[in-house]
Amino acid sequence: MSLSLLESCKPRRWTTRHLAFATVVVLALITLYYTALPQAPPEHWSTEPSFEQIPTPPEVWQRRTEQVKQAFRHAYAGYERHAMPHDELLPLTNSSKNNFNGWAVTVFDSLDTMILMGLNDEFARALPVVAAADFMPNPHVTSKLKNYAPFFETVIRYLGGLLAAYALSHEPILLQRADDLGRLLSPAFNTTSGFPMFGVNTANGTVTGGSTGILAEIASCQLEYSYLALMTGNKDHFDKADTIMKSLARANVTALGGMLPRRWNLQTAKPADDALSVGAAADSAHEYLLKQYLLTAKTDRTSYQMYLRATNEILTRLLYVSENRDLLYVTDTTRANFIPSHRFEHLSCFLPGLLALGADQLDISMNHLDLGGLGPEGRRAYELLKDYDLRTLHKWVAEGLATTCYLMYADQPTGLGPDEVRMLPKQDSSRSFQGQRAKSMVPTGRLWVNEMRKWRDGGEHGWPPGLGDKKPVRYTLEEMQNSKTRGAKNQVRDYTLGRTDYLLRPETLESIYIMWRTTGDPIWRERGWAIFEALERETKTDSGYASVHNVLISPAPLDDDMPR
Ligand SMILES: *[C@@H]1O[C@H](CO)[C@@H](O)[C@H](O)[C@H]1NC(C)=O
Ligand SMILES: *[C@@H]1O[C@H](CO)[C@@H](O)[C@H](O)[C@H]1NC(C)=O
Ligand SMILES: *[C@@H]1O[C@H](CO)[C@@H](O)[C@H](O)[C@H]1NC(C)=O
Ligand SMILES: *[C@@H]1O[C@H](CO)[C@@H](O)[C@H](O)[C@H]1NC(C)=O
Repeated sequence: MSLSLLESCKPRRWTTRHLAFATVVVLALITLYYTALPQAPPEHWSTEPSFEQIPTPPEVWQRRTEQVKQAFRHAYAGYERHAMPHDELLPLTNSSKNNFNGWAVTVFDSLDTMILMGLNDEFARALPVVAAADFMPNPHVTSKLKNYAPFFETVIRYLGGLLAAYALSHEPILLQRADDLGRLLSPAFNTTSGFPMFGVNTANGTVTGGSTGILAEIASCQLEYSYLALMTGNKDHFDKADTIMKSLARANVTALGGMLPRRWNLQTAKPADDALSVGAAADSAHEYLLKQYLLTAKTDRTSYQMYLRATNEILTRLLYVSENRDLLYVTDTTRANFIPSHRFEHLSCFLPGLLALGADQLDISMNHLDLGGLGPEGRRAYELLKDYDLRTLHKWVAEGLATTCYLMYADQPTGLGPDEVRMLPKQDSSRSFQGQRAKSMVPTGRLWVNEMRKWRDGGEHGWPPGLGDKKPVRYTLEEMQNSKTRGAKNQVRDYTLGRTDYLLRPETLESIYIMWRTTGDPIWRERGWAIFEALERETKTDSGYASVHNVLISPAPLDDDMPR
């Protein structure tokens, strides 16, 4: 904590009256603690950091800005010193690996950050590396398909890195290299549907991969190829992206309300499953729908229609609130009939930022939803939502989800969030769920849209479901060691850990940043700062930052890995 914060806390004098009062409170707490666990132990919750009461002065934010910059410089200097021009630094052993084509992916992926932070020296040293990259198969690559560049990863990391940096700097070499790379990768589009194949050999243009592809890999190249076309004037690049968007728009997904499922046939452009997700294998596809609409100056109406349909489906099928803390979370449906898995992934924490961005930039409203061709499932979602102000709903969901994503960090002893949790829905004994018989006793949980209806029908008292103040809940050491107390605490926390690792993923911090920018509420900035402090405390090594193996243990056990 900074000095100025400490100074602003005036010392208090303890009187007998205070002591008597305190004794009564402590006794009451002890009694409650032992009689009420696990149903009602909120007094056991640790309190939020004191930042809620004390506004952080601007000069402290100035200092923090410098600290964030120093953190970037520390990691990048370690990479330059020990790993460049390989792909990534191994931050415990000071060695390196080539896991993304061996063209120095860390350099490409860091360019825009250098520009934003005003790190001119680093940027100047990076440009020759960019200019020298040959984009040819590298025999030292550690991945299985040595001779093939994975299309999706190469587009989002290398092409996206070049273009973002070009947009900020207008440095000609960046566009030239983006154009080179865009051409070298374009044989991937040579399928009957126009959907990209998994990988490309950039030396001879042959492609590789199965006949089915995953949504995220198919539909996360539109921004790059559209922007490349715009900047180079080469319409070919745009047509590649546009063909994919048109094929997706034509696909018959009426049974899924218009939301795009996770797997697709690359030749026929037809869905290959009916799994709905915003997590792994799907995530960025939904993001690109909104951003493609924004990038095209709101002319690509098809993308916007698809975004509205997808978010209607997310709002009515994938959002749940937890039993105890009323945490809003987004899950996936992996079987027929939209039965939820109650898995909640760190990757899904991009969603609050996306919804906040959409609600901030657009007049999100049912008036813009094309009702034609919706089908019964899309109609169902429309009927459930049409009486609300849709933009307000998107804002509320963004706030509730971002809060849960933050708590996944604040709940852990390291202050860092696990890669995946399993929410604990109450066994639902009600007769039916979406036509399912109750006999299977599937724990269906509390669907957010149903809770919204109850809240509204009940006169809108208190916070909307999933919103409002929520406190972190941490295990004590004793609770963690004893499976019984751990189980009770899991009920209080509302989840168990599906995975214990934290892979330096950015989704939660990115959403928190967008929440700060769109709401102006300083709580988001403070939460972001709390996570930054945890990163410094738990993951910093002599040469960089390392992935955490188990977020429940502090000091954290680290893996020799620094995913950029
Ligand atoms: C596309 O594939 C067809 C056959 O599958 C092949 O004849 C053609 O040369 C390929 N075009 C490019 C640009 O790779
Ligand atoms: C292209 O390169 C790959 C990988 O080295 C190789 O398997 C394939 O035979 C080559 N194809 C042609 C047409 O040269
Ligand atoms: C789309 O699929 C649904 C079933 O999922 C079917 O009822 C409908 O006829 C199909 N529409 C078209 C145009 O093929
Ligand atoms: C890694 O390099 C840093 C300097 O970049 C050094 O301080 C540290 O001792 C090195 N660690 C190992 C394991 O060699």
